[in-house]
Amino acid sequence: MSADQIDAWRASPGTDSCRFIVGKTKAFWLYRRTWVDSRRYVSVRLHCKLFSLRGGSLPVATFAAVRSALDALRLHPQNHGWLGLYEVLESRFAAEAAEGDGPLHRIIRECDEKRPNLSTSHLVTLLCIAVKGLYGDWRESPVFDGRVSLAEKSDLLATTLTKDEKVVKDQVLTRQNSFSSARRFLVPQVLISYFARRHDMPVRLADLGTGAGLMPRQLGSRTNFDRFAPDLTWDGWKPEFVDVPYELRWGVDRPPVEDRSWIRQCYGPSGYYDERYAELDWAFDQPDVKAAAMTSSALDLLEPDSITEFIGAHEFNVVTCSFVLYQYSEDDRRAVAKAVANALPEPGLFVSFEPAGDLYTPGGSIRIYLPGNPMPVEFGQASDGHCMGHVHAGRDYDDFRDRYL
Ligand SMILES: C[S@@+](CC[C@H](N)C(=O)[O-])C[C@H]1O[C@@H](n2cnc3c(N)ncnc32)[C@H](O)[C@@H]1O
Repeated sequence: MSADQIDAWRASPGTDSCRFIVGKTKAFWLYRRTWVDSRRYVSVRLHCKLFSLRGGSLPVATFAAVRSALDALRLHPQNHGWLGLYEVLESRFAAEAAEGDGPLHRIIRECDEKRPNLSTSHLVTLLCIAVKGLYGDWRESPVFDGRVSLAEKSDLLATTLTKDEKVVKDQVLTRQNSFSSARRFLVPQVLISYFARRHDMPVRLADLGTGAGLMPRQLGSRTNFDRFAPDLTWDGWKPEFVDVPYELRWGVDRPPVEDRSWIRQCYGPSGYYDERYAELDWAFDQPDVKAAAMTSSALDLLEPDSITEFIGAHEFNVVTCSFVLYQYSEDDRRAVAKAVANALPEPGLFVSFEPAGDLYTPGGSIRIYLPGNPMPVEFGQASDGHCMGHVHAGRDYDDFRDRYL
C-alpha cells in the first residue's frame, strides 16, 4: 500500500487507525481526528510504528509521526509563541530526511528506543524546549525572528544542532515538559472547594506532576482567586471563592525535581509567555501562597503501585493532576487513573485536567474520578489550557454539580 493510498484510506469517514502488512513489514498506524471547529479537523498520526516481522521496530515510522505532529502543531489555531519553531524544526526534519540522516533523526531514534512510552506530542514539545534552550534569550536570536526567512532559520538551526546535538539529546532523554501555569489551579480550586464544603471534610491533597509546586500552595488563596478567576467563566455558573481546611498539601514530580531555570525554559519564545511567567512569579510572591505549608517529594507516576502506596500512606482524599498524563501513552494514562481511583477513600475525588486532543487543539479536558471507579466523569472542557476563557459543560457537568458540588 503506498503512502498516498494510506492517506486516502485515512481520510475516509470514521477511520482512526489502520494495520497492514507489506512484505516483511507489519505496520500499525493510529490516527486521532480532533475537531478544530464544526467544519475542520486535524487528523494526527499519534502512533505510527513499523515492525519487521522478524522483530524490532524501524524508527523511520517515528520520524513520520514526529513530522506529522509538527505539521499539526504548527497549524494550531492559537499562536502563543511556539508555532515558528515548529515550522523551522519541520523544515530541518525534511532536509535531514532528504540527506538520509542528521542530528534530529539521531535524537528521535535514540529517544524512541529509550523512552518508547512518550506521546508524540510531548516528544515534539520537549524537543522544541531543548532546542530553544540552545539560544539563550530568544529575543536575540534570528531563529525566533519573524523577519528572517524559513530557509535561513533552518540553516542556522542546522549549524547549532551540529555543535549541540548532545545537549539536546540529553534533555530529550531525561527531562519532561515542566511548563507550570499560574492559572490552572482555578479548575481544582472550584471543584475541590465546593466538593469539600458539600461533604464537610478537611482536605488532604496530593498534586501529581506538580512542576513548580505552585498549585498546591495556591489552592485556598483568595489573592490568586481574585486576580485570575474573572478571566475564566463557566457555563451557567459563576463559582465563588470557598475557603476549605487543608490538612495537608503535597506535590510530587518525577526525579530529579526540576529547578526554576528549566521551568523557565519550558515557556515559549514570545511576549505572551513572558507575561505568563511573570504571573508565576507574582503568584508565588503572594503572602497567603507563601504561608501555605507544602511538602514535596519525588514519585514516578509510571509506577502505579507507588501511587497506591503513597495515597494510602498519607491518607490523601483529594488528588489533582494537570497537564501531565498527555505526556504518555493511553495505557499509562489509564493505569494512573485506575491506581488513583482505587486508592482514594470515600468521600474523595481525583481532578484530572489534560490538554484537549493531546495539545493538537486548544483547551483542556476536565475529568473527575470518584473512589473505586476508573471511569471518568466528563465534567467539561476549558477553552484554553492556560485557563483564560470559558469552561464548557461536558456530558456530566449538570449531574455532577447537582450531586457533588
Ligand atoms: C507540563 S508540567 C505541568 C505542571 C503543573 N501540573 C501545571 O499544570 O502547571 C508536567 C509535569 O509533570 C511531571 N511529570 C511527567 N512525568 C512524570 C512522572 N512519570 N511522574 C511524576 N511526574 C511527572 C513533569 O516533570 C512536569 O513537572
